[in-house]
Amino acid sequence: MFNEKINRVVLIGAGAVGCSYAYSMINQGVAEELVLIDVNEAKAEGEVRDLNHGMAFSPSPLKVWNGSYKDCKDADLVVITAGLAQKPGETRLQLVQKNTRIFKEIVQNVMGNGFDGIFLVATNPVDILTYVTWKESGLPKERVIGSGTVLDSARLRFSLGEYFNVDTRNVHAYIIGEHGDTELPVWSSAMIGAERLETMIAKREENQACLDEIFTNVRDAAYHIIERKGATNYGIGMSLMRITKAILHNENSILTVSAYLDGEYGQKDVYIGVPAVINRSGIREVMEIELSDKEREQLEHSTAVLKETIAPLE
Ligand code: 2OP
Repeated sequence: MFNEKINRVVLIGAGAVGCSYAYSMINQGVAEELVLIDVNEAKAEGEVRDLNHGMAFSPSPLKVWNGSYKDCKDADLVVITAGLAQKPGETRLQLVQKNTRIFKEIVQNVMGNGFDGIFLVATNPVDILTYVTWKESGLPKERVIGSGTVLDSARLRFSLGEYFNVDTRNVHAYIIGEHGDTELPVWSSAMIGAERLETMIAKREENQACLDEIFTNVRDAAYHIIERKGATNYGIGMSLMRITKAILHNENSILTVSAYLDGEYGQKDVYIGVPAVINRSGIREVMEIELSDKEREQLEHSTAVLKETIAPLE
């Protein structure tokens, strides 16, 4: 009997983000096994039962259960969404102390049960917590990945698609840097279909101001959503599913995940959002794209802010 590889994903955190991810995984038919773990056992059990009741409609059903850290031994991917989320007006970096403590315990529990796969981190401040996960786990840097600015790049692509009235999927544009207030748009390489964005803006006699407004709304999107509904979850949940698909299906897709820099962009020993090739081994390589002088300066500033934040934790 053909024994197709059973992809097992363990999700730690059955809150709004984790369950949006789980719901997206089922609707896209990604993976064969999905294990939910949460400190609130009853919540995890309730979410599993609810998700399973939709399985009849999944394109390729998964086995979903409320498990334990023992299930990490045979997991290909452990996704961490557990931790405290931003309150209205709170920055992501302000969560660092509380979430670092939670993360160290989670990673010790995962590794203590024989995990030897890939970590995907979503909890904020995601770049810092991805670095903490890498340090605590002892896994090779390419097997510890953060959601980085994948969601921010998706927000930018959506906004540019709206502005130019083209399908989001035909907009190629990156947000790189910290997943947070110091992130930056790479206007110099943005494309609308096969046309450079900067050419299109010039043609429309628009000025940089319209691009700046689009970027500001992307950078601050989470604050505006949190003010209105208390949290963000669908965008990040689908972003995590997208990264998971690239890993499990060995896609070699390019996504702006939080990746470890070891000299790329002139930076070392930091996890930060940059375009990287993602496949079954995790991060195959970081792509060093051309940046304008301004973009390079902004990335250096973003890196410096992350390093200042992580220094006291070392
Ligand atoms: C977001 O950007 C809160 O980091 C989360 O939606």
